[in-house]
Amino acid sequence: MSSSSAKSAATTIPQIHETIEVSLGARSYPIHVGTGLLEHAGSFIKPVLTRPRTVIVTDHNVAEAILPKVQKSLDAEGIAHQTITLPPGEGTKSFDNLARLTDLLLDAKVERSDIIIALGGGVIGDLTGFAASILRRGIDFIQIPTSLLAQVDSSVGGKTGINTKRGKNLVGAFHQPRLVLADTGALSSLPPRELRAGYAEIVKYGLINQPDFFEWLEKNGAALLEGGTDLLAHAVTVSCKAKAAIVAQDEREQGKRALLNLGHTFGHALEAEAGYSGRIVHGEAVAIGMCLAHEFSQVQGLATGQDAVRVAAHLSSVGLPTCIGDIPGGPMLAEALVEHIYQDKKASGGALTFILTRGIGKAFVAKDIDPAALLHFLTTRV
Ligand code: GLY
Repeated sequence: MSSSSAKSAATTIPQIHETIEVSLGARSYPIHVGTGLLEHAGSFIKPVLTRPRTVIVTDHNVAEAILPKVQKSLDAEGIAHQTITLPPGEGTKSFDNLARLTDLLLDAKVERSDIIIALGGGVIGDLTGFAASILRRGIDFIQIPTSLLAQVDSSVGGKTGINTKRGKNLVGAFHQPRLVLADTGALSSLPPRELRAGYAEIVKYGLINQPDFFEWLEKNGAALLEGGTDLLAHAVTVSCKAKAAIVAQDEREQGKRALLNLGHTFGHALEAEAGYSGRIVHGEAVAIGMCLAHEFSQVQGLATGQDAVRVAAHLSSVGLPTCIGDIPGGPMLAEALVEHIYQDKKASGGALTFILTRGIGKAFVAKDIDPAALLHFLTTRV
């Protein structure tokens, strides 16, 4: 843990591309999408705090590249701060790190009315949000997502949690942030693999209910991934708007929010079977999962084969994997994947729920999927 004292103000000007409101009554909050937001984080955060004091939770990679900008901006606003730095990687979303983090936050004398900051990707956001949801029976937090995946998905909507040996995100809570600052400038230093993985979640929004956006991505996706700043800001904004609209209607996933899991049931099973290793990262698993969802929909007679081909063609054109065979490290067993699928949060009373589709932009929640049909389908895909 480290602390820092007042330094000079940032010289850049924040450029807000768009502000999106997540409308949840008293728990509503804005998502600012733009550039220069990290350097001016303090001025966005100050009005939200109850006293000029906060704790930043981040990881070692973000601490090197991005943390100093945020610390300086807090100094400039006279906000006292401490930083807790955790190891990067999915393994950090564990009970051990949750215990460590809550202890460190208590050591930092975080009070019930204080607000902490999650500065990082999905791992830091999910873990910090969950710690905030249980610390002193619940404190507030702010999300400053620094990965594309976190900016378009995990920082928005209040899903927080950790993984257990039995699966991903199986322990957690719904806990909405007070503010989200999505600075697309933070994405310029991301490794290409991580940027592509986040892009898969952007494609998801087109496939759920925005066929025009999918078409836009087919035209602009490659340029966006090569550093097209305005294209990126547009895609992040459309994604956050799409997610905010669904979350506002179904915060706790009683119905429509499940659509956001398109590709995730297959994807989580692939990640679990790969042992949450570098063999496959979350966004890649979602890319394969979305292809499988379209192919399974076709096999079920719901959608045409052309849709599945089009989805795979686009994902593959930007360098994402599209089938189970693309995962390095040897074949997987269909039976093992089905076993993981039963552990998924979307299994209910032994029945399987999937997000299937009637075509691009026509995803829907399909209940009571026949396990034998699923096993047979996966047998033809492993
Ligand atoms: N990532 C899916 C959701 O937030 O509901």
